[in-house]
Amino acid sequence: MNKSIVITGVSTGIGRDALRLLHSKGFYIFGSVRKEEDATALSKEYPERFTPLVFDVQDHKSVIEASGVVFDKCHVLAGLINNAGVAIPGPLEHLTEEAFERQMDINVKAVRRITNLFLPLLGASKEFKGTPGRIINISSVSGLFSSPFNGAYSISKHALESMTDVYRRELRRYGIKVIAIEPGPIKTNIWQKNLNSLDEFNQTEYYDVLQNANKIIENAEKSAYPVAKISKLIFKCITLKNPKTRYIVHRNKLAFKLMAFYLPNKLVDWLIHKTLGKGEKHRPV
Ligand SMILES: NC(=O)c1ccc[n+]([C@@H]2O[C@H](COP(=O)([O-])OP(=O)(O)OC[C@H]3O[C@@H](n4cnc5c(N)ncnc54)[C@H](OP(=O)(O)O)[C@@H]3O)[C@@H](O)[C@H]2O)c1
Repeated sequence: MNKSIVITGVSTGIGRDALRLLHSKGFYIFGSVRKEEDATALSKEYPERFTPLVFDVQDHKSVIEASGVVFDKCHVLAGLINNAGVAIPGPLEHLTEEAFERQMDINVKAVRRITNLFLPLLGASKEFKGTPGRIINISSVSGLFSSPFNGAYSISKHALESMTDVYRRELRRYGIKVIAIEPGPIKTNIWQKNLNSLDEFNQTEYYDVLQNANKIIENAEKSAYPVAKISKLIFKCITLKNPKTRYIVHRNKLAFKLMAFYLPNKLVDWLIHKTLGKGEKHRPV
């Protein structure tokens, strides 16, 4: 089996726990971080079989430079885990162009740039000999269901869902499997980063529905799964002979599927309208 994996965004959350689990299973991990201090701390924690890649996914020149070491150290990757991501909430009407572009660049455009960079090591060539690698995109249930006031994020994850399907169909000829993991709430820093993030829109006419935003975030965080749930699934996606093309991870998968795929749009719109004001059901990632 190929034993090297690239994971973006291993400083915290899902990426960090994926590093822990995959490393414990004997994989060599190339993990991306943005800060030198994260690289130093992780290198101390994982003195063997780990190399930090220091880059911001928005700066492709630095991605290419930092990734040179991956090409120097290995010829084949078992997997690329596109995990780095941000959630920038706000009403679509009031999100700045810069904020919207940042959301799209980090969660969508950078995923394509980074995937294309590593494709030769994943086996995208007729000359490639060995076992092709797998691409695992950390999407979200927001890639299947459009949440108001979290629109830019939802749009980015919908685009990532489509990108997953397109790559899977294009790369089939090389045997490269492309999988989307679609988590509901998972306990990570992303929630704290979101607290108070909607305050800047309190002067807008959406004030009435946004005033419960923090309560909504806190409620969602309370019901969140631990990160290990996703790490185990990532391990499965890397090692199963025949993984599924997408995995929803949600406490109430049936209710979620009903809302996302089966109930009439107008009924779902009405349900969202009713529950938003109570600050109980709506969630931002
Ligand atoms: N937590 C959830 O409930 C949930 C649910 C569904 C999907 N997801 C998805 O899971 C993925 C990981 O999120 P998380 O929950 O683990 O959140 P997190 O703890 O905030 O981790 C996000 C990671 O992405 C990195 N990152 C952010 N912007 C970056 C950039 N411009 N360049 C390079 N790295 C960047 C962060 O690095 P820094 O530490 O340097 O910021 C961090 O390592 C995201 O794609 C998210 O959309 C999360």
